[in-house]
Amino acid sequence: MSGIERLSKLVGPHDPSGLLAVVLAIPDHLRDALWRIESARLGSLEAPAAMVCGMGGSAIGGSLAAAALGDRLTKPLLTVRGYELPPWSPAGSAVLCSSYSGDTEETLACYSAAEALGAKRLVATTGGELAAAARRDGVPVIGLPAGMPPRAAVAYMFCAAAELAALAGAAVRINTEVDAAAAHLQARSETLADRALELADAVGDAVPVIYGADLTEPVAYRWKTQVNENGKLPAYASSLPEATHNEIAGWEGAQGRLACVLLEDSDQHPRERRRSQATGELIAPHASEVIRVEAEGETRTARILELVMLGDLLSLALAARHGIDPSPIEAIDALKERLGRPA
Ligand code: F6R
Repeated sequence: MSGIERLSKLVGPHDPSGLLAVVLAIPDHLRDALWRIESARLGSLEAPAAMVCGMGGSAIGGSLAAAALGDRLTKPLLTVRGYELPPWSPAGSAVLCSSYSGDTEETLACYSAAEALGAKRLVATTGGELAAAARRDGVPVIGLPAGMPPRAAVAYMFCAAAELAALAGAAVRINTEVDAAAAHLQARSETLADRALELADAVGDAVPVIYGADLTEPVAYRWKTQVNENGKLPAYASSLPEATHNEIAGWEGAQGRLACVLLEDSDQHPRERRRSQATGELIAPHASEVIRVEAEGETRTARILELVMLGDLLSLALAARHGIDPSPIEAIDALKERLGRPA
């Protein structure tokens, strides 16, 4: 049986909304995102800095794009998760307000804050209040396809953030790289499904603590949030080298309850790679398992997107092992309900 068949057999009975198929369609999402961005015929947003405002699944694209661009960034590309832009935001910054639903209050607040700053705004959404406001204000919109959980639109959010960087003059346009990454992911999907099953076995019932550095830092966070939202399970993310200056000491009390996942990449600083290896060795006696994952792919974009897809598949496999439907996120909905609308 192929990797995808085996993963479908595990996930299928618990996945009535078909989230696995949506994750496996990430290569198509990437191509569709490029097409939608091109069709939006966006003009230059030349600016001193670029900011992506969003929350959760709509914010991660900003962090992933900044990591994929790496040292090709010539100006700041910042992801803002919250109600306000940083107080030092340069006037005339290029600001992408990204909200899948278009109704996230923090992102709507940043949309207004960006106007007050005299920012050049851009919106990525399926609709909601954000689309209505953009229409009213003549702000360009990258229209996203409706009908998936916001966190499943990661490829769209990644492409929108990368486009913002290009429009702001903060980095080269990486469309060709994204297109090649889509082909890479398509070709690798069987392998990734296999690997996700192996990883789910290795994590088992332990709480994963996922470490990233440089390119893999936002991926570690993505894995954590996908395990949280799809698996309804605790998971934590942390970054190297910082964790080697404090967090590793805490593993002494872990008593085999946590699984250590180290996300590695060939482009990481050689000392970061060395630290990752040494961290795994030191933690091993206290962890249920130490799992090292190396990204494959020719470009930073291919490697980061491959790891994102792998983490998404892993989260679905973990959900299935616990008999959990990955789609509903009742805790998040309940919290939004409890807060009500802002005054
Ligand atoms: C839900 C998810 C959440 C949302 C977040 C913001 O699938 O991943 O993290 O992305 O609550 O909502 P949107 O994306 O609609 O702005």
